[in-house]
Amino acid sequence: ASSIEVDVNKIPEGKSLIVTWQGKPIFIKHRTEEEMNAQLATDCSSFRDPVPDADRFSNPRWQVLIGVCTHLGCIPIEGKGNYGGYYCPCHGSHYDSAGRIRKGPAPLNLIVPKYKISGELLIIG
Ligand code: FES
Repeated sequence: ASSIEVDVNKIPEGKSLIVTWQGKPIFIKHRTEEEMNAQLATDCSSFRDPVPDADRFSNPRWQVLIGVCTHLGCIPIEGKGNYGGYYCPCHGSHYDSAGRIRKGPAPLNLIVPKYKISGELLIIG
């Protein structure tokens, strides 16, 4: 499978970038220190897909998600929905700002693709 490289210098702190990998949108977010600490401190135990942030992202400063709704595959919209994260307009799934499913029919959090960070490159795939 092919991988892609993204120069992380292109994404200032607090900003997001969408790239395409294997025909799918990949939502990359460069979290601020505050965002990172808030996500790491979130107690996910009552959530539908209760995976702690630290178990999802190897470097929690960088949030890397496949932008495909885990319900039936529509593309969620960033910055919409009840949790300040991503909203899927197809059937109303609300994901929070770390891509965790919080409301609506989707069964799982937005999926984290295989990726690694090497120096200034984020390598997806
Ligand atoms: Fe997203 Fe159904 S495909 S809510």
